[in-house]
Amino acid sequence: MAKKTVKDIDVRHKKVLVRVDFNVPMDANGHITDATRIKAALPTIGYLLEKEAKVILVSHLGRPKGQVNLKYSLKPVARHLGELLKQEVYFGEDALSEKTKIQIESLQAGEVMLLENIRFYAGEEKNDPALGVALAELAEVYVNDAFGTAHRAHASTAGVAGFLPAVAGFLMEKEISIMGKALAKPERPFMAILGGAKVSDKIGVIENLLAKVDILLIGGGMANTFLKAQGYEVGSSLLEADKVPLAKTLLKSARGKGVKLYLPLDAVVAEEVGVEASTQTVAVDQVPEELKILDIGPETASLFGELIKSAKTVIWNGPMGVFEIAPFAQGTMTVAKAMAEVEGTTIIGGGDSVAAVEKAGVAAKMTHISTGGGASLEFLEGKELPGVAALLDK
Ligand code: 3PG
Repeated sequence: MAKKTVKDIDVRHKKVLVRVDFNVPMDANGHITDATRIKAALPTIGYLLEKEAKVILVSHLGRPKGQVNLKYSLKPVARHLGELLKQEVYFGEDALSEKTKIQIESLQAGEVMLLENIRFYAGEEKNDPALGVALAELAEVYVNDAFGTAHRAHASTAGVAGFLPAVAGFLMEKEISIMGKALAKPERPFMAILGGAKVSDKIGVIENLLAKVDILLIGGGMANTFLKAQGYEVGSSLLEADKVPLAKTLLKSARGKGVKLYLPLDAVVAEEVGVEASTQTVAVDQVPEELKILDIGPETASLFGELIKSAKTVIWNGPMGVFEIAPFAQGTMTVAKAMAEVEGTTIIGGGDSVAAVEKAGVAAKMTHISTGGGASLEFLEGKELPGVAALLDK
């Protein structure tokens, strides 16, 4: 069911509490190294300011485990946001202190403040109703624009929504509608590309997608477990031996559902990961015992590339190899570039694949790059995200 958005509610001169996901990477000096998530929240913040709301932003940063730890302070984010908005962003040093409440009361229409990391409070991750109520008391309307944290049932992502009129922000709306439409009514052929290290991280996604896609490409470390299930030896590669029976079941299920499932035909192998590694390309039935599979091989990359270009809807989650290291980047780069040539919808399901399309210089060519890692995986598993479920239906 579609959710109400900021457009469906009157915000003029109201105090609006907006949950954003400003969990951004920072270097040791507190400099933000990737501001994508901050920029992604700008349409909602900009809209609310234009509508003369009093905007109170709340977010987490990292995992401070319910304790104040200034290493995880959002202060640098307030500064950065101020530069992007070209207006002052006030900072509430303690999300719920009396001082912060006074700051909120003196906010004028069209002004914005950011509260300190809500995970400094132990009640946040426990979804303590007392914290949900305390947050609700700060405002008159609640907006959730934190798609990246929507898979967490926390006080600021779900609990608070029980105590205020609760609607989605534009980022949340966009994420759910693009990915939701791709899953529910894809233009076909509909393809998923799954990679990354472990099958165990993607079981739910594979199961859900097998019921929907026409073609499934599997690469990355997780392909090794499938190769083993097909009777190949994978040398010293990463392997989840206990998941081999499950991989067999999934392969059978794909056959039963008529899904064309492709595994690597060849692989780039080496003794260890490293820029100086001496690599070989071998067929998957020729992987030497002492070597590791670290990328899909050129024959596989070219097959995957051709298949991708023929699809009309493609969802990609997880790299094909250790793409951060040059000798093992080729497979992932080929997939990224093929995605850029798709005449249809291309969705990058968060995490490492986002870094891969950026590295390949094709990010701007994608239909949608999700700001959620864990959240987009759970969405692709077909789960209802607590942060979304808590919002008002249209
Ligand atoms: C993320 O980066 O995936 C989100 O911000 C959620 O963070 P978490 O995994 O610490 O809950």
